[in-house]
Amino acid sequence: MILLLGGSGYIGQAFAEALERRGREHRVLSRRETDYTRFDLLLGVLRHSRPEFLINAAGFTGKPNVDACEQAKADTLAGNTLLPQTIAQACAVTGTPWGHVSSGCIYSGAKVVEGGRTRVEKDLTKPELQMLVRERPEVIHGFTETDPPNFTFRDLPCSFYSGTKALAEEALDGVGQSYLWRLRIPFDEWDNPRNYLSKLLNYAKVYDNVNSISHRADFVEACLRLWELRAPFGTYNVTNPGFITTRQVVSMIASRLKTPRRFEFWANDEEFYRLAARTPRSNCVLDTTKLVSAGVAIRPVEEALDDALRRWQAAVKPG
Ligand SMILES: NC(=O)c1ccc[n+]([C@@H]2O[C@H](COP(=O)([O-])OP(=O)(O)OC[C@H]3O[C@@H](n4cnc5c(N)ncnc54)[C@H](OP(=O)(O)O)[C@@H]3O)[C@@H](O)[C@H]2O)c1
Repeated sequence: MILLLGGSGYIGQAFAEALERRGREHRVLSRRETDYTRFDLLLGVLRHSRPEFLINAAGFTGKPNVDACEQAKADTLAGNTLLPQTIAQACAVTGTPWGHVSSGCIYSGAKVVEGGRTRVEKDLTKPELQMLVRERPEVIHGFTETDPPNFTFRDLPCSFYSGTKALAEEALDGVGQSYLWRLRIPFDEWDNPRNYLSKLLNYAKVYDNVNSISHRADFVEACLRLWELRAPFGTYNVTNPGFITTRQVVSMIASRLKTPRRFEFWANDEEFYRLAARTPRSNCVLDTTKLVSAGVAIRPVEEALDDALRRWQAAVKPG
């Protein structure tokens, strides 16, 4: 049996559906049923039900966006750092292998490889870097799992949300048998306030940047596949390979959905942060070589996006 925590959430629901599709015996444990944030109660569940694997899709993301985490720091810390640490300890004591939904939002920017030298660029909105992204995308490289996170409490600036996700990765390092699955900006064909495509369709103005992003079903399939393949435990960037600019996504939306909407962009960072955002946003490119080398098949970002837009369902998914 696979035990799923956070099954009521946007990502947790996708895990539940994927387990259902596979016919895998699983149990969704809700906080209402058992307060799994308490070590003693979680340990009791693990000892009693002896799951073969545990998935932690619980966490505190802030709604409608990470700005809300700045006003709810205790909940953010509890959901994103203390909870995974509690789970890690309970799983280590019981020898339960498990996977944790981490985030790529602990990075900012990308690596630029030119003339045999690699440098980290944290802000890809600089005009000269935008030009590289457009004209020489081959020099833009994603952060690998061994690159130190650079959008954290240790490497400011960061949002409080990102800081707590990075602290969790540190807390889990070397404890028990776990996967840290890094998700980025989930999207799919189901219109939903949490879906990146829905967000772009509803923003008054759009913020142009460069990102690796994760198709929601592709993400959970890839996470489950790592476990099924018995890939080595550790951290994996789980995004659709490649990167994409907001302008490219918006242009795909316009052509596929034939929306009459004219997308407007914030003029620059200064305007975006003055009028639309309270806390810094992570925008980054991740490298997926480790995931793919482990034998996990995952579609390139353009293909996953195009597919989601072709199948676009303009209604909130039931359940
Ligand atoms: N969505 C994204 O854009 C995104 C991107 C990267 C990473 N992630 C990570 O993915 C995970 C799931 O995110 P989501 O988008 O699915 O969030 P969500 O829709 O808000 O769902 C959150 C889930 O976590 C539980 N939860 C909330 N606060 C909690 C707390 N303090 N302690 C224990 N459980 C708590 C909720 O359970 P109840 O039903 O009991 O409230 C719910 O099941 C999080 O770790 C998040 O950091 C999300």
